[in-house]
Amino acid sequence: MKKIALALLGAGLMASAVAQAGPEDDRKQLIAHFKSKLPAVKYENYVYGALALDKDSKSQYDSIMEFPPFVGVIEGGKEMWEKPFKNGKTFASCFPNGGKNVAGNYPRFDASLNKVVTFEADINQCLKANGETEFKLSDVNTMGILTAYARTLSDGMKKNVKVEGAAAMAAYEDGKKFYFQRRGQLNFSCATCHVDNAGNRIRAEVLSPMLGQTTHWPVFRAGERLTTLQSRYKGCNSQVRAVPFEVGSDEFNNLEYFMSYQDNGLPLKASVFRK
Ligand code: HEC
Repeated sequence: MKKIALALLGAGLMASAVAQAGPEDDRKQLIAHFKSKLPAVKYENYVYGALALDKDSKSQYDSIMEFPPFVGVIEGGKEMWEKPFKNGKTFASCFPNGGKNVAGNYPRFDASLNKVVTFEADINQCLKANGETEFKLSDVNTMGILTAYARTLSDGMKKNVKVEGAAAMAAYEDGKKFYFQRRGQLNFSCATCHVDNAGNRIRAEVLSPMLGQTTHWPVFRAGERLTTLQSRYKGCNSQVRAVPFEVGSDEFNNLEYFMSYQDNGLPLKASVFRK
């Protein structure tokens, strides 16, 4: 079966039908696209999103990150992570390596469940397996705070998402389709803003490039508002006045799977400042 390499529609690059093209071709094509579109941005700096394109904002980021105002929230997440369940076990018991250097492997495709599983979903699975109540995936005060710490245990790990087998490929393709699909009253796709117009301004904001967008979650907007990757998806969905999908929906999980694969090779750093 032929696979279509990442279609950078609107960027003038027509979908190129390459025999056996797959996620790795998509990733390389995306990197090449940004290399020519934004030649001043070094590959490793894509983790900074829009800040990589705006010197003043980047130095504001650097000084805030020296003493982040949200460090107390991350501490709270650490307490949650380390607090024993009623059976005496902790979250660390559910993950390889006690949860260190694992977040870069997410989302993963689970062949037995036949679906994409996020880090957050595996945290809930851990709660369930230990007889505890699961968190609401969209609840920043439980899942959000916990992951603000748990994801820092993988800081520095390079993203390493795998797409293996036909079912995983189908989920990946579904996420890719979502990314390029125009929707809402504005008829924009994610790519309209974050591929074609990356680096341009929309109102007062510089649009971040798609590359690197999955590497640094959650973020603290304005230094305080904890925002997860999928709640950001929701926000961007409503920006174009489309009906947003739910955090943890198959649609968003597949989207995260597709986007995360493009970031393979970039280092993670959780819980950062964003404007
Ligand atoms: C109308 C333009 C527009 C569209 C369409 C759009 N976004 Fe955004 N998005 C923004 C703006 C503005 C921001 C905030 C500035 C920035 O970081 O790019 C943002 C931020 C983000 C961020 C956070 C980047 C970071 O480093 O903090 C992610 C992730 C994201 N968008 C994903 C998506 C996805 C996925 C879609 C499609 C469902 C999408 N966006 C559609 C305008 C858009």
